[in-house]
Amino acid sequence: MEAMLVDAFGREVTDLRISVTKRCNFGCIYCHDEGLGPILRPRAPHDEEMTVDEIERIVRTAREFGIRTIKYTGGEPLVRTDVEEIVARTVRQIPDVSMTTNGSMLARRAEALRNAGLKRVNVSMDAIDPTAFREIRKGDLHPVLEGVREALRVGLVPVKLNMVVFKHTLEHIPAMLDFVGNSDGHLKLQLIQFMPELVDPKDWSVDIDAVKKWLEGKAEKVLVREMHHRRIYLYNGTEVEVVDPVYNEEFCFNCHRIRVTHKGELKGCLNRNDDLIPTRGLDDDGLRKAFRTVVAQRVPYYGVHVKEFPRRDGDAAQPVFPLSAG
Ligand code: 5AD
Ligand code: SF4
Repeated sequence: MEAMLVDAFGREVTDLRISVTKRCNFGCIYCHDEGLGPILRPRAPHDEEMTVDEIERIVRTAREFGIRTIKYTGGEPLVRTDVEEIVARTVRQIPDVSMTTNGSMLARRAEALRNAGLKRVNVSMDAIDPTAFREIRKGDLHPVLEGVREALRVGLVPVKLNMVVFKHTLEHIPAMLDFVGNSDGHLKLQLIQFMPELVDPKDWSVDIDAVKKWLEGKAEKVLVREMHHRRIYLYNGTEVEVVDPVYNEEFCFNCHRIRVTHKGELKGCLNRNDDLIPTRGLDDDGLRKAFRTVVAQRVPYYGVHVKEFPRRDGDAAQPVFPLSAG
């Protein structure tokens, strides 16, 4: 075993998020990835993408450093036909393995993924209205709902739904709360603040503090999660979590996650692309050194890397239409 990875700000790294591809069959208008265009069905691994062996070695090294959770992401991970194999090899090293998916290809694979040892899935679901969903995601809602249903059926419970909060989704929040609130606790909802910095500068942001205030008014109870100090609201027995990293120093100071790009580069912060450390072709010792280096260079984004930004004042938040009526 190696010593735990801790950065200069005392942040332990406990969590690794691995992108297995940058390809995706959806085209979300908010997506901070550079899409490679529409894909009709899962394809074999692309040249640039890490092989299963490369991923397994990174996971093995992560385990040596005491990293406890692995999350697979994309692009859309399920465009790869070998995700089940990736999961199966991962759980032998680190049992807590989850995946973020757009859900569109999940129905046919949920059972095999569960059998491979996958523990949980996050499914992106920005509206339960099919028209709004299509406008935002450039894909169909129906297969995604099927995917969620199948995930629940095979026991990938609870399924976390990710909803990006921005101008286009604000009016769909109440319906989404009703949807998850009627799932007997089998669904959870994550409301994710739109991150403008990674996409074109568009005026899509809404005041997330106002959304939190509105939720607080409806919630039975409010909890705080250790990871990033995220707020969790209990609504009809269902957990609704707000992920609000933008201009949020507290969030960055409580971040315990590093990333791996689909090409196998280590990445210390979601918001940065100037901190990538390639690992392809390194021997095992070189890979360990790369982990130590990326962590040594890691700094909280808001507060340290970016010092000038609008300060947030949750108490001053004004109600946002159309949530004010609730
Ligand atoms: N802002 C916030 N979240 C985003 N995601 C992608 N792009 C953005 C963005 N600009 C998140 C969504 C989606 C997941 C794959 O990535 O939560 O569900
Ligand atoms: Fe991007 Fe995910 Fe949407 Fe695909 S499903 S376009 S990767 S946010």
